Amino acid sequence: MERVTLRTIGVVGSGQMGRGIAQVAAQSGFDVLLHDQDATALDAARTFIDSSLKRLVEKGRLPEGARAETLGRIRAVADPGAFAAADFVIEAVSERLEVKTRVFAALDAACRTGVILASNTSSLSITKIASATRRPERVIGMHFMNPVPVMELVEIVAGQATSEGTLETTRDLAKALGRTPVTAQDYPGFISNRVLMPMINEAIYALYEGVGGRDDIDAVLRLGMRHPMGPLALADFIGLDTCLAILEILQQGFGDPKYRPCPLLRRMVDAGHLGRKSGRGFYEYGPEGAPR
Ligand code: CAA
Repeated sequence: MERVTLRTIGVVGSGQMGRGIAQVAAQSGFDVLLHDQDATALDAARTFIDSSLKRLVEKGRLPEGARAETLGRIRAVADPGAFAAADFVIEAVSERLEVKTRVFAALDAACRTGVILASNTSSLSITKIASATRRPERVIGMHFMNPVPVMELVEIVAGQATSEGTLETTRDLAKALGRTPVTAQDYPGFISNRVLMPMINEAIYALYEGVGGRDDIDAVLRLGMRHPMGPLALADFIGLDTCLAILEILQQGFGDPKYRPCPLLRRMVDAGHLGRKSGRGFYEYGPEGAPR
């Protein structure tokens, strides 16, 4: 595949991850087409990005003039047909295989033949997502971490059919976005969640079995291992429903009982105690998601 110059990045999904990706791309000088089927979510994303840029200006990290310029590079598009103008597309819709495959089939129809379609999935199979398109060699995982503007890593995931050229272009794009790319193969959980989720699950087991209290468990990892957050606080940050879904993918994908989700995690999800987003998980949160 010849090296291509990417100018316009399409982002599908304007939730927490999609808007973060759109912001980082616009700050890195790319034109961004941001699509969401929900017009209210698109408006909310613009407002969120603008206030995030405002904070950067206040901290002296972004010149005042660059705020409007950066926001001006993001065009919200209601019609996915507008992606005919995109040079590279990153999907960040909800983590459901049937939703992702539907979006990828639509992107395959809307985008030019040579365009790479990347998924921000945290644990679904890139190979399965790619099979919904006629360009599986140009489908790849581009897994950003939350909060996107802060986290350096992008986990690049190579599916069964992903070509070397697609990998190279995607790694180059991650670098152009100011991130550090790491390549993982397409097996359940890739590298990040294969390692992270068993740690979080084990911390929940430690709480469930009374090995330590919530604050003790988090303090051990924060103060003893210098993690920025303890595993229970991190589980709340990620969302307990997301943690459970990823653990189930690991358990089913490997058929190995070592990934079995802790019954306490399941019970909390059943109760709607999903972490920051629901106001309550292992900790309680105020309206802005700040710990109480
Ligand atoms: N957007 C933009 N910037 C943000 C932000 C957001 N949502 N949240 C925090 N920041 C910035 C703050 O503005 C602040 O910037 P300055 O240092 O320039 O002032 C900086 O990040 C630190 O923030 P705070 O001082 O408010 O709080 P903190 O020091 O406790 O850091 C944190 C917050 C960055 C979230 C930190 O606790 C952290 O790194 N936690 C771990 C996060 C993590 O592990 N993420 C990966 C989750 S796994 C995942 O995403 C993938 C998956 O598949 C599950």
